[in-house]
Amino acid sequence: MCGIVCYVGKKQAKSILIGGLKQLEYRGYDSAGIAVQDGSNITCHRAVGRIVELEKKINGQEINGTLGIAHTRWATHGEPNERNAHPHTDPEQKVYLVHNGIIENYGLLKKKLQKEGHHFSSETDTEVLAHLIALNFDGSLNEAVRRTMSQVEGTFGLAVIHRDAEGEIVVARRGSPLIIGLSDEGNFAASDVSAMVRYTNQVVHLQDNELATLTLDDFAISTGQAKRIERTVETVEWHAEDADLDGFPHFMLKEIYEQPETVMNAMRGRLEPGEGVPKLGGITPVWDQLKTCRHLVMVACGTSYYAACVGRYIFEKLTDIDVEVELASEFRYRKLNFPPNTFIVALSQSGETADTLAAIREAKRKGARLLGIVNVVGSSISRETEAGIYNHAGPEIGVASTKIFTSQLAILTLMALLLGRHQNLSLTEGVEAIRALQALPAQIKKILSQANHIEAIAEKYYRCPNWLFLGRKFNFPIAMEGALKLKEVSYIHAEGYAAGEMKHGPIALISPQMPTVAILPKDDMYEKMVSNIQEIKSRRGPVVAITTEGNREICDLVDEVIEIPATLDFLNPILAVVPCQLLAYYCANLLCCDIDKPRNLAKSVTVE
Ligand code: G6P
Repeated sequence: MCGIVCYVGKKQAKSILIGGLKQLEYRGYDSAGIAVQDGSNITCHRAVGRIVELEKKINGQEINGTLGIAHTRWATHGEPNERNAHPHTDPEQKVYLVHNGIIENYGLLKKKLQKEGHHFSSETDTEVLAHLIALNFDGSLNEAVRRTMSQVEGTFGLAVIHRDAEGEIVVARRGSPLIIGLSDEGNFAASDVSAMVRYTNQVVHLQDNELATLTLDDFAISTGQAKRIERTVETVEWHAEDADLDGFPHFMLKEIYEQPETVMNAMRGRLEPGEGVPKLGGITPVWDQLKTCRHLVMVACGTSYYAACVGRYIFEKLTDIDVEVELASEFRYRKLNFPPNTFIVALSQSGETADTLAAIREAKRKGARLLGIVNVVGSSISRETEAGIYNHAGPEIGVASTKIFTSQLAILTLMALLLGRHQNLSLTEGVEAIRALQALPAQIKKILSQANHIEAIAEKYYRCPNWLFLGRKFNFPIAMEGALKLKEVSYIHAEGYAAGEMKHGPIALISPQMPTVAILPKDDMYEKMVSNIQEIKSRRGPVVAITTEGNREICDLVDEVIEIPATLDFLNPILAVVPCQLLAYYCANLLCCDIDKPRNLAKSVTVE
């Protein structure tokens, strides 16, 4: 949600910043801006729309300077217009800053400043910060930012420059990620490593209530109380190529096609086929308590939440543990009362989702133990949980999550299998599960080879304005995820339902214009799903069935069939979701939607 990138070094800043913004565009894309410092002169440009609009605006202009800050915005306060775009400045245009997050007490601060004669040129909360930093400046930018941090409430990732602080960028964080990148050519800071991975893989994570001063060849981190902090430099495993399209027209499609590999990466080095027990080094620190845990709560948002919903069924199948699943945004406001030795599992691709972070903080306060399943190494959730498992899936850039979903399901299965094998699950069952897990990457490839068939189905139905997705048990959450994918990227209205609930409402909508995607692998729910399909067909609703390979009998009943290879019942969701992702992608493509940057959405939701 909003992307920040800044650079101070030996090279011209402009093109580095624009390149960085393009990598961050998935975080927000309604307006963008850049400020570059050259001696005591600062040039600032802002534009509404995508980064290309900013590029067009500054094209041909000489913007000299080896230090600068830049921002791509996802509007919270004030509509996306040029006045509200970042960088913001103070009335004397001495301070320029970019901000990610929300200043909660900006209204009060703004009124106070207005009474003192300050004029504001935007409707944003951010502009207050520029005014305050200018007022607090008496020679040290670092000190001015520190003082301002003590006056504001809310969340921020911040990068600030000042005409009278040549060669310096001050960055600060409270609740919104900021990562410092170090290289021989200069230093960076960004809300996400993808903005700087082209130049460096040496990073330092800024933590909450810390600030740092960056110069050409140094950085210094300190706390809000001016205590100096020494922090180790980490090496990130992501590569510049990970952030490229690699010949695919969209990141969403590229990431769908990466799933054989990302599912494999989720399991790499973690399977012990002979013993039927996975190895999960990341949870070793809490293993003694975890293995006796009888109550587990999964919290997450969006697609990660639907992965958790599948996870509950998998845990129920493989373990004796009671599992609850909660939307993080609701969980934090519940009256929480955990039995002893309750573990919370937070699932998050970005590791920065504000609601998920708030949920684990609340659970910690109430005495629960915290685990994370996170993709971004070093992210806030990975740091605030006691232990956890990384997805190792590389950056996910398409706003609609795909490869992380299947990776999360693979990891949840490994966790459940590990715990189950220490409970009642037999060696035979463990070995069988591991064999089935190992087969998944090739099985996903087989589904991907049907892409043309799935595209043809999309061509038939993409003009239908309403869709229904139905599933039962393990595949009920896949129905919800399938519907979410379709609405996110194509703006087609879709609902995901537990098939048994169809007669309690959605059946009223069935008509020849409303397709139903029915997820019915050959498992113990199959016959019940067939009955639901009969009910739809007798009302002349078109049905697309996602079913197990070789199931011929369904062909007589439904309009379209997409086959998935046979696997164990609890692994079907990993396969069944892939055709749903492709259907959503092709519908969106036929409707000429902006697939990787759907309207109003953002990849990393760092505000409540
Ligand atoms: C946003 C994204 C979704 C994602 C959700 C949770 O809504 O658009 O794709 O599933 O946030 O994000 P997380 O990073 O916590 O998994």
